Amino acid sequence: MSTTAAGVKTEKETGTLEVRDTRTGATYEMPILPRGTEGDVAVRGMDLRQIKVESGEFGTMSYDPAFMNTASCMSAITYIDGEAGILRYRGYPIEQIAEGSTFLETAWLLRNGELPTRQEYDKWENDIRYHTYVHENIRKFLEGFRYDAHPMSMLCSTVAAMSSFYPDAKDIHDPENRNIQIIRLLAKIPTLAAFAFRHIRGMPFIYPDNDLGYVENFLSMLNRMTEPRYEPRPSFVKALEVLFILHADHEQNASTTAVRAVGSTQVDPFSAIAAGVAALFGPLHGGANEQVLRMIQEIGHVKNVPALIDEVKDGKKRLMGFGHRVYKSYDPRARIVKQLADEVFKETGVDSDLEIALELERIALSDDYFVSRKLYPNVDFYTGLIYRSMGFPTEFFTVLFAVARTAGWLSQWEEMLMDKEQKIARPRQIYIGHGERKYASLL
Ligand code: CMC
Repeated sequence: MSTTAAGVKTEKETGTLEVRDTRTGATYEMPILPRGTEGDVAVRGMDLRQIKVESGEFGTMSYDPAFMNTASCMSAITYIDGEAGILRYRGYPIEQIAEGSTFLETAWLLRNGELPTRQEYDKWENDIRYHTYVHENIRKFLEGFRYDAHPMSMLCSTVAAMSSFYPDAKDIHDPENRNIQIIRLLAKIPTLAAFAFRHIRGMPFIYPDNDLGYVENFLSMLNRMTEPRYEPRPSFVKALEVLFILHADHEQNASTTAVRAVGSTQVDPFSAIAAGVAALFGPLHGGANEQVLRMIQEIGHVKNVPALIDEVKDGKKRLMGFGHRVYKSYDPRARIVKQLADEVFKETGVDSDLEIALELERIALSDDYFVSRKLYPNVDFYTGLIYRSMGFPTEFFTVLFAVARTAGWLSQWEEMLMDKEQKIARPRQIYIGHGERKYASLL
């Protein structure tokens, strides 16, 4: 075993790949990188550069739009086996973490690689409780948004704006400084999210109550009215805690890749995390939970499900909440969310939307279109239904995802900074535009 710059334990090199160029007849040997813990194998893209016909040529690149088969980093944080439906944080199966951990313990684990001791946990939790307040100008800034602004736009802008309140955050190479910015981000993002929620509802902002736990305080800032202390339903606290854990990290997804790419410019973490929020907003990523509910409401009745399935099969629509770039079997998070949904619905009651969702799932799991493409429900399929039964408006669902994913983004950002192999992210392109031509004005 050896350890890479990212702290990853790997086996010794496994051999070489021999490539023959039919244009020149030349053969090249490329070392196969040491296997990852679970046997992942790769060659270095840069090793292709030596393959050329003329010595003055640039050399061969790898072409991989959407990074379908490109490992952009070595990471020791999260492991996914998409074929087997496995997700682990730092080696711990997601099912066990969801069952026994808290969101803040999970955030510590993701960042530090090991579970915290009691003393470490208490300090971590206390530090995060202490930093929940935001500058009053943030509040004024939020008030400038229109009543119908999307809360993800509000969250993205306020997270970015925070870098102007903490100019010291640009000192990213100082571990103590990084630590305080990570604590600030984890502590303040629920406050920003809750302020955005109150704004779209036209309700007065509720300041953090630092005597409450992370999730309880968040629910208090969202829902408290005149009562001196908000007492959330224990089942809602439990559900949100588990949903936050499930959403905390998911290795190199689009938003994490955005955070790493923007962070690789050595910008401050608030700016890098704002990039993650922006990427998560998209309907193919975190925005899917919102789209699932809109789709279900558009279907309107179980009897209309087959018509929608036909439209999907004709390529006119996508079944939101289905399919995943990595999972080619049941998303393990979806399984946990489905169980959780059953518990929440026992309290809040089942409605016709759930019936529609169950029918969609039933048909999709048995229809050859979905089976042959390995399209299974993903985590977003059921989260929207739970969030709605807990009283969250549809446009707020992705914000809940963003609050939780901040833990993963920050861990991935810090791992990237510690990785000596990482540099500013700068892909290549294959230019297919005009060759050189002479400028002649048409004016
Ligand atoms: N409904 C219908 N067909 C689909 C769907 C879907 N949801 N997803 C993929 N397909 C089809 C697609 O049309 C293609 O068919 P064909 O081979 O005939 O052209 C095939 O399946 C492969 O699709 P792809 O677009 O190459 O797959 P991808 O890995 O690039 O996309 C995805 C992954 C998540 C973007 C996609 O499955 C999708 O758009 N799903 C709906 C949106 C969604 O639920 N997103 C949340 C993902 S999980 C949480 C998160 O990451 O934020």
